[in-house]
Amino acid sequence: MIPDDKIIEIRERADIVEIIGEYVSLKRAGGNFKGVCPFHADSDPSFNVNPARHFFHCFGCGASGDVFSFVQRVDGVDFQDAARRLAARYGVEIPERRTTPEERREHDREKDEKNRRFFVLETATAFYERELWSPRGQAGRDLLRARGVDENTARAFRLGFAPDGWQNLIDHFRRERISIDEALSCGLVKPRSGGSGHYDLFRNRLVFPIVDAAGRPIAFSGRVMPGNESDAKYINSPETREYVKGQVLFGLHPARVALSKSRTAILVEGNFDVVSMHGAGFDNALAPMGTAFTDEQALLLRRRVDRVIVMFDGDRAGMTAATRAFPVLARAGLAAYMAPLPPGEDPDSLIRRSGKKRVEEIIERAKGLLDEIIRMAADATDGSGQDKARRIGSLQPFISAVKDGMERDLYRQKVAAAFGVEPSMVFRYLRDGRSGEEPAPSKRPTGLPLPGYVDERELIGLLVDLPGLCERAVETGAVALIRTPELRTMADQIVENNRHHSSATAGLLGDAQTNPVAAWLAKRGLERLFTDEELGKAALDEIRLQMEKREVEVRIADIDKQIQKAQGDDLKVLTLERQKTELRRELMAQA
Ligand code: GTP
Ligand code: MN
Repeated sequence: MIPDDKIIEIRERADIVEIIGEYVSLKRAGGNFKGVCPFHADSDPSFNVNPARHFFHCFGCGASGDVFSFVQRVDGVDFQDAARRLAARYGVEIPERRTTPEERREHDREKDEKNRRFFVLETATAFYERELWSPRGQAGRDLLRARGVDENTARAFRLGFAPDGWQNLIDHFRRERISIDEALSCGLVKPRSGGSGHYDLFRNRLVFPIVDAAGRPIAFSGRVMPGNESDAKYINSPETREYVKGQVLFGLHPARVALSKSRTAILVEGNFDVVSMHGAGFDNALAPMGTAFTDEQALLLRRRVDRVIVMFDGDRAGMTAATRAFPVLARAGLAAYMAPLPPGEDPDSLIRRSGKKRVEEIIERAKGLLDEIIRMAADATDGSGQDKARRIGSLQPFISAVKDGMERDLYRQKVAAAFGVEPSMVFRYLRDGRSGEEPAPSKRPTGLPLPGYVDERELIGLLVDLPGLCERAVETGAVALIRTPELRTMADQIVENNRHHSSATAGLLGDAQTNPVAAWLAKRGLERLFTDEELGKAALDEIRLQMEKREVEVRIADIDKQIQKAQGDDLKVLTLERQKTELRRELMAQA
């Protein structure tokens, strides 16, 4: 926990124009600065920064906050992290509360070691980078040219070249007074197997630095040079405290602004694909670095985006990998799409061969990943009962990975349609939860408790009555305040239907028989509580206020729980009480 007075000090000392200026090109306008908002797709300078009052605001999308919330959003870190980063940058000392001197010493030692590792890794990055642009780096530059990577892109990724030879980095480290032990702890050198001495891990390879969320190098991935294809294509640094395989995404840092702007990530397979995609302007591309896409990687994305477009190689392996990524994405609550590449192509080869226009078309035509998985399963069946049953059954894990109940039901219907079987059959066999578990179907949905909060349902009811308010509900952020996933999906669907001018409710009522929300909506849709647009607008504002208040109340309740747990730790309780008071004040201001 960082003391409140320190938070204030950081906010005062941090130069908000400088911080935001790294992401947005700002122009002075009176006492303010203006630029194009990094949080929504826009070309007008609706984004304002007020240095005197230490805050930013976008008149386009309504995003606003202080320097902390800006760093949180754009770097995808939490408040504590954002505050610590800014404190370090602007030289604000945060007192660490340590009980014993030993603990403090231990902590300091760990911190020193960590900082030293970052320094060593940074020194190596700079060394490889310099080598690439020096005469010795000709072969590396040739490879980049052959792959269509220009210098700007290469520099943005800080690509480098490890020259041929056993001790280039070791020699450089000696000059920089970096010890062999330090090089070892960063995984950059290895002990010789016979006898004494060490050798460089990366030799005659193109080097891709792997950076953390703050852009600091934590590891390297070295690609083999043409002519040495009998060696492993990639060598990666061994794992360290900072670098854990399956917990990093290649390209995340350079993609951060594009991710927060488009709320969409493009997931590709190879490091080279990421670099080429960024070079071609698709700067929201990322790669899982050779491992299967993991839950941890999905979590890195969840805070930053809503959608992930999987764009894996156009071969069997690529398709299998995309299929395996689906449950991971679905579990994280990310909408998954697939942009299918022509057979034998990866994004990088396609850009070179057919240009970025073609890639753009493929991205625009991306389809739901699960829809594609279902379609492929159905296409592959030989039509026999046995084969159909097996293939339908194999879809179970995908259907159960879908979080939202209504969405799951929609996919079951799709399975039935794709395989040309009765929907009831699919509903019977592809059930929620673990296989074999009996769901509790209810013929009388009226008795079931309704999910979500009253205000959430009120909002949905309002939109059903007056679909004309959909856009306003989105713009004012009311829809985004719906926290119950099923209801959020429903609201999103109503908004989407409205955009396509189709009836707002018809499609949502399919299974009013078994789904209590659908049943409720059917009933609510008949009531028509609102007919007047102006009254509806007023109601919308009121509902949104109510939701904002509830949001704060939930946070207060959460703090109460934490206070319960923290009994005995007076300092912690005090801090929590303070946060609570702050939130209470917020509530009063809203009322
Ligand atoms: P190019 O063949 O040059 O286009 O490279 P690529 O980056 O597109 O690689 P590819 O599609 O063959 O592989 C996808 C990713 O898997 C790579 O970017 C690496 O992260 C990882 N990978 C591939 N081969 C190896 C290997 O031999 N060892 C390790 N550790 N990782 C590999
Ligand atoms: Mn490739």
